[in-house]
Amino acid sequence: MYYPEELVEEVRAKNDIVDVVSGYVKLQKKGGNYWACCPFHNENTPSFSVSGNKQMYHCFGCGVSGNVFTFVMKYENYSFPEAVRMLADRAGVQLPKVEYSEEQKARENKRARLLEVNKEAAKFFYYQLRQPHGAVGYQYLKKRELSDETMHRFGLGYAGKNGAELVQYLRNKGFEDELIKEAGLANYSEKHGLMSQFWNRVMYPIQDINHRVIGFGGRVMGDGEPKYLNSPETPVFDKRRNLYGLNFARTARSGNIILCEGYMDVIAMHQAGFTQAVASLGTAFTPEQANLLRRYTDNVLLAYDSDGAGVKAALRGIGILRDAGLTGKVINMRPYKDPDEFMKALGKEAFQERIDQAENSFFFEIRILEGQFDMNDPESKTKFHREIAKKLCEFSEEIERDNYLQAIAEKYFIGVDNLRKLVAGYAAQTGLAKPVERPKSGIQAKNTPEENAKRSQRLLITWITDEPAVYGKIKKYVSADDFTEDLYKKVAERLFSDLDEGRFNPAGIISTFEDEEEQRQAAELFNTNLPRLETGQEREKAFHDILLAVKKNSYEYYTSKLGTDVNALNQVIAGKKALEELAKTHISLE
Ligand code: GTP
Ligand code: MN
Repeated sequence: MYYPEELVEEVRAKNDIVDVVSGYVKLQKKGGNYWACCPFHNENTPSFSVSGNKQMYHCFGCGVSGNVFTFVMKYENYSFPEAVRMLADRAGVQLPKVEYSEEQKARENKRARLLEVNKEAAKFFYYQLRQPHGAVGYQYLKKRELSDETMHRFGLGYAGKNGAELVQYLRNKGFEDELIKEAGLANYSEKHGLMSQFWNRVMYPIQDINHRVIGFGGRVMGDGEPKYLNSPETPVFDKRRNLYGLNFARTARSGNIILCEGYMDVIAMHQAGFTQAVASLGTAFTPEQANLLRRYTDNVLLAYDSDGAGVKAALRGIGILRDAGLTGKVINMRPYKDPDEFMKALGKEAFQERIDQAENSFFFEIRILEGQFDMNDPESKTKFHREIAKKLCEFSEEIERDNYLQAIAEKYFIGVDNLRKLVAGYAAQTGLAKPVERPKSGIQAKNTPEENAKRSQRLLITWITDEPAVYGKIKKYVSADDFTEDLYKKVAERLFSDLDEGRFNPAGIISTFEDEEEQRQAAELFNTNLPRLETGQEREKAFHDILLAVKKNSYEYYTSKLGTDVNALNQVIAGKKALEELAKTHISLE
């Protein structure tokens, strides 16, 4: 934990969730709760509810839920510590300064200085672009149809023909040669001394998600080589973990992110209103970048060049996105090379159409594959079909695999049964579909027994949070140990011990978890959709069923652990007794 738990709890308690959320969306009171259209998905009728009692929100449409911290994290794209700091500020709670070791301090200091020198350099370039001798750069950008406003927004600049000027400027500002060099802004040579390698280029400052300049890309004027010169990696410039334009794209709320190849593409797209565009930093798209994107969307559209290199890069990108559990689609830019050229020629409305028609990444892969075979030659065509079968085997989930199989069979006029046989043949040869974990396949398989067990545990916790009074009636039958999922057990421990002491604070329990994903799961526990039942009798029956399901699962779980877990025997004995008693006990919810 960054901050002590009590302090986090104090910050949470002092920020009423209804107050905080109503600062972002218009809430309407209905019954005991407040309602709004969900800020996290598109809808026209309100299914987003905020409970002052639970100090939580929950959307019945898209299923998000959480407390005041997770709301701010989600809305502002903040990390947990950032959300704590913001809300502490809002409520006037003093947070302690985090204590660093000497080494950490030195490292932080260095990073801070590197960011400062970059910022100063960006200012220098920015100023040059707007001077008479920077006219060549300015005219270049004008010719590429960038408005002054866009140039300003992206902090575009110009590096003049004399590489010594930047160095002189930075020295005058008090930066040591060593630092200037380490920031990658200049190199040392015998002949010229310290001198910037950026000259006669328009300069694109590269910013991190907090708008801090971490490096530069410089484009040559005209046809020189290399076309783009990028800063080297430095302690603040990690090319694998940053994306150009993400500082703006992260708040675009367009439901997707568009991944482009070039800086100029990103800028042109933003100027046209597609502020969800980002690009990698002169290097290929990385798994780290895919993970970064996952914080903001699960839907990534590739707008790569339509030439051979672009297609290859797109195929690589698709694989990386898939491994990260993201859905990838490909935007077709033909007959133009890249988004910049496309929009110049056909305009933004036409580009929006291409976004809407973006191709499913699997179909894209198959279509590209098709190009390598001659459909008029039966042998070649057969090879193509075999390749399709091989690719289909990459889907580990049967339903998903079969859905794709049917779609592809129809698209390429292959008999479904023939293709199925081919796939089965391949699967048999290779030990079936790749046993990869595919976290978000989009299509849910039928619930497994484990899923059902988890679901009844969630239902029980939600029921208790909705009606804390039932806890007193069932505590002799259940304990936290009945929750066989680790995280559920932790939540139940806290919830039950709070209730034992006459406290009730589900929202506080969420922020005892550090990890965002864990916070999400904990929040979900308190917000499972309970069955809607009319009569008291129905409700009592449902509750009894849930309780029995939880106990039964726990009994089976510990039975399977007999001999390996010392605690298991006690659990089994107690579990058996509880089950017998519950079978003849009526628990009244009145
Ligand atoms: P413009 O001609 O300015 O429109 O370039 P572009 O945006 O169309 O770029 P291109 O498709 O040529 O390249 C895409 C991206 O690859 C650029 O934005 C750079 O990040 C990177 N890149 C291009 N050329 C070079 C190069 O010579 N060296 C390095 N390191 N990166 C390059
Ligand atoms: Mn271009």
